[in-house]
Amino acid sequence: MKIFTLEDYSQMCRLGAELICDIVRDKPDAVLGLATGSTVIGVYRDICAEFDKGLSFARTVTINLDEYVGLGATHPQSYAYYMKHHLFDKVDIRLADTHIPNGMAPDLDRECDRYDSLLDKFPRDVQLLGLGSDGHIAFNEPGSPFTSRTRVVQLADNTVKDNSRLFDNIDDVPRFAVSMGIADIMSARKIVLLANGANKAQAVENMIRGKVDESCPASILQTHPDVTVILDQTAASLLR
Ligand code: GLP
Repeated sequence: MKIFTLEDYSQMCRLGAELICDIVRDKPDAVLGLATGSTVIGVYRDICAEFDKGLSFARTVTINLDEYVGLGATHPQSYAYYMKHHLFDKVDIRLADTHIPNGMAPDLDRECDRYDSLLDKFPRDVQLLGLGSDGHIAFNEPGSPFTSRTRVVQLADNTVKDNSRLFDNIDDVPRFAVSMGIADIMSARKIVLLANGANKAQAVENMIRGKVDESCPASILQTHPDVTVILDQTAASLLR
């Protein structure tokens, strides 16, 4: 695990974007595993800046981690909407080459199978990740099997509370999501995880120093051969 503790959020995002853009420069048809959440917004801003300077994503394929069950692509809190707003509408990627689970699919089990087939077809060159304050990655909450693949998951109360800041009312936060599994995340060639803020410090410590255990899903990353963790000072505060 390579760990970078940087001065501020803008430096974190610059490094995260650089790592991803370097992959696209070397391999224009790279498959990028993408994440949502507040932490990675700045990474997308910096990736868009590289596009403005001439980097093309026209041959790139993207596969997102997760989507809320019951939110369609036009819902402002859906991850499909987020990705269009922060990245897809701003670069030259072909929308047909972007993939996000469909949280509105009439048969969610079938949707999970469809997503697993996609993951098998497109091995990811890099997987971008944020970190839940309870140590979740994607929506793999504590207790998720390390062998898990795409499935419908129930959000932990803590996650519903954390994510409620983006909704008008906590009751509007969906309780279920379709999430890539931990085994899917681990199959990416390279992983880049960002975490900032004091509310992530405990999860960061458990991820890096804790026992590799399903009670902290992110702790499995200790066993991946190529992980870069990018932190700010407050998220890294318990590591000193
Ligand atoms: C959400 C997402 C995760 C994200 C995490 C952190 O629930 N499913 O993919 O990484 O929680 O979110 P944030 O960056 O907003 O703190």
